[in-house]
Amino acid sequence: MGSGIAQVFATADFEVELVDARPELVARALDGMARSLERVARKQEWTAGRAAEVLARIHGGTRLEAARDCPVAVEAVNEDAALKREIFARLDALAPPAAVLASNTSSISITGLAAATRRPAQVIGMHFMNPVPVMRLVELIRGLATSDATCALATDLAVRLGKTPVEVNDAPGFVSNRILMPMINEACFALMEGVATKEAIDTVMTLGMAHPMGPLTLADLIGLDVCLNILEVLHRDLGDPKYRPCPLLRRMVEAGRLGRKSGRGFYEYPEAPRA
Ligand code: CAA
Repeated sequence: MGSGIAQVFATADFEVELVDARPELVARALDGMARSLERVARKQEWTAGRAAEVLARIHGGTRLEAARDCPVAVEAVNEDAALKREIFARLDALAPPAAVLASNTSSISITGLAAATRRPAQVIGMHFMNPVPVMRLVELIRGLATSDATCALATDLAVRLGKTPVEVNDAPGFVSNRILMPMINEACFALMEGVATKEAIDTVMTLGMAHPMGPLTLADLIGLDVCLNILEVLHRDLGDPKYRPCPLLRRMVEAGRLGRKSGRGFYEYPEAPRA
């Protein structure tokens, strides 16, 4: 999702420092953004050259020191709380004192991430939805210490990106995944128990409930490892057995069938880049 976030910032005329762990991941992100921008340019009838201008505003690299002059940093690493806390501590040491540090986490506590810094009032959740260039929501998550000024800045920023911000409080899974993940998990149980085929489950939800994609197709888009991580956070932090992850979802993740990004999840994606 990091590349989608970089893309929407650059499209809104911001200069972007995109940082990933390895050069090949940076190259893959730049390649993905070039393809996505082509679609946006075609759809919105951009003038020739605008997509290249947007891409030129994104500077890719592997060193977090690129955050030294950034007024806002948006973290979008894996859903690994320890890794996120480490990144927040490093960003806190590097970024200008007035900078706001945001996380695109889909379920990890913003209050906990803020506690890894000396600026908890300037830490907020900016949860984008996949695919970021298309989806209009940004869920803004207020940690215990997040200031009104930080909320106002993030709200303003989301609007400048062409998104609709919705403020929620810091609770496991926030609103989006508190509601979405139990549906995806239930679809996995229905498949595991042989209630219907994957195609039938998805068709019931697309044709019957007017969802743009069925829950199993959506899980493949999000990433099955991400879904499992979020369900584990809901299960552990809310302590209610109704959130227990479906054993089939666990097996799929163990098998490396992570969805689109690995070329195979509930469905196969022969064109997708291998993880
Ligand atoms: N970049 C740029 N444009 C893109 C794009 C991308 N990555 N992906 C799709 N588009 C554009 C297409 O160009 C297309 O434009 P036109 O309508 O002008 O042709 C439009 O979006 C629709 O795309 P498609 O025609 O290819 O396919 P579609 O009509 O099936 O729509 C979809 C694709 C937008 C993904 C739609 O299926 C959808 O809304 N699915 C649900 C997505 C969703 O629920 N996302 C939230 C996931 S939860 C999450 O992200 C948070 C979390 O914490 C887990």
